[in-house]
Amino acid sequence: MASFFRVFSLRNLLVLSLALNVSLIWRVLYEKEDSEAINGPSLDNKREAFRTDSMASEAQATQRTHLYIPSSSSSSSSSSSTVDSNGRDRVINLDHGDPTMYERYWQQTGDKSTIVIPGWQSMSYFSDAGSLCWFLEPEFAKEIIRLHKIVGNAVTEDRHIVVGTGSTQLYQAVLYALSPPDAAEPLSVVSAAPYYSSYPSITDCLKSGLYKWAGDAQSFSKEGPYIELVTSPNNPDGHVRQSVVNKSGGILVHDLAYYWPQYSPIAAAADHDIMLFTVSKSTGHAGMRIGWALVKDEEVAKKMVKYVELNTIGVSKDSQLRAAKVLQVATDGCKYPASEEGSLFDFAANVMEERWKLLRAAVRQSGLFTLPEFSPGLCRFLNSSFAPRPAFAWLKCEAPIEDCEAFLRSNKILTRGGKHFGVGPQYVRISMLDRDEIYDVFVQRLSTIHLRQSMQVDETVE
Ligand SMILES: Cc1ncc(COP(=O)(O)O)c(C=O)c1O
Repeated sequence: MASFFRVFSLRNLLVLSLALNVSLIWRVLYEKEDSEAINGPSLDNKREAFRTDSMASEAQATQRTHLYIPSSSSSSSSSSSTVDSNGRDRVINLDHGDPTMYERYWQQTGDKSTIVIPGWQSMSYFSDAGSLCWFLEPEFAKEIIRLHKIVGNAVTEDRHIVVGTGSTQLYQAVLYALSPPDAAEPLSVVSAAPYYSSYPSITDCLKSGLYKWAGDAQSFSKEGPYIELVTSPNNPDGHVRQSVVNKSGGILVHDLAYYWPQYSPIAAAADHDIMLFTVSKSTGHAGMRIGWALVKDEEVAKKMVKYVELNTIGVSKDSQLRAAKVLQVATDGCKYPASEEGSLFDFAANVMEERWKLLRAAVRQSGLFTLPEFSPGLCRFLNSSFAPRPAFAWLKCEAPIEDCEAFLRSNKILTRGGKHFGVGPQYVRISMLDRDEIYDVFVQRLSTIHLRQSMQVDETVE
């Protein structure tokens, strides 16, 4: 070993490392040119062309699905796509609604959306000790109101704002707040199928004595009090919803995570007793884990605050300050649309419009699937009429395919099957919010799936 080091000195190592680096750089440059020569311009370049042509017709959209040839040699850093052990087809994971589509917008905003938090700041448990929600950062509360005012999607007057670690925590806080502490049996919690797949598991995870998941609201017939969750636009199918249980004694909770103009026309300001929102789907900052509730009744708001206090003793101040900043940038972008990067909602609305056109074209070409149809409505915020472009595609596999999730999995597309949403296996939910590159590979693959070929793949897998 000692003689090895005598022969192979530090200087030799440095020279070797330099040579390796030069050859690596050369290879990267060479392979980039090579792959562009084979596959056409890189996805980034194509995306640039896309942006200048966001109102392209559906016919053009169909053409573009053909143009997109996924590069089999490139692997992605995204968690939603992996290369299989043969290095061939990528597995596209669109099971979760991870909103990475928004990264491109926030990258453009640069310093405007950046905050710096000195080491001494945000140290106390308290944000505003005297107020009902004592852990709510006043700056964040101010930006919530500004944003709702400019978008016009929710009434904020005479409401208490309660902040939560995501709207997931607020959902649990609402259940706690609405359940009588001394009832003889747990309060029933229902939502019309297809419902958001997390409601049943979150509701029942602790087997609470206070409340209990009672399934599809459409078939709910039990007497007595209940909570009905109204998700509008709905996850998974994107439809605008109203309550369906027609009985007295019910309390409505409106989950409005997707009531934003990139997904749905804003017809009027929502004016319900309990409304839940989240940055996860409005600005795309799911990792911040911040949601807010607008609550009319003071006692309900107080009990929700109590729950968050018992559960996590408040909500991260750092996250709230960051959320305040991104909401401020989102609102300013609407107020001053001439700004370099434009408004968040214009950006996201264009991307969603384009993605839905591509998806519908791919579905038509394949001939194996159907999608929900939506009627156009006037959006008072964007001042135009358009059909909803939901954050999820609720895809139905037509006969003879019985299990849509398994069928797509055999084509290396991971989705969430209908049974998670209280319906049959012929449906799947597909996230529409992943990065451009992943989405492009997905629609390209969907458009070229043919029944016989897929059945053969399926048989080989089994
Ligand atoms: C309808 C609905 N509500 C709530 C959530 C959870 O939001 P958060 O990330 O703020 O916990 C989601 C996330 O997918 C959702 O679809």
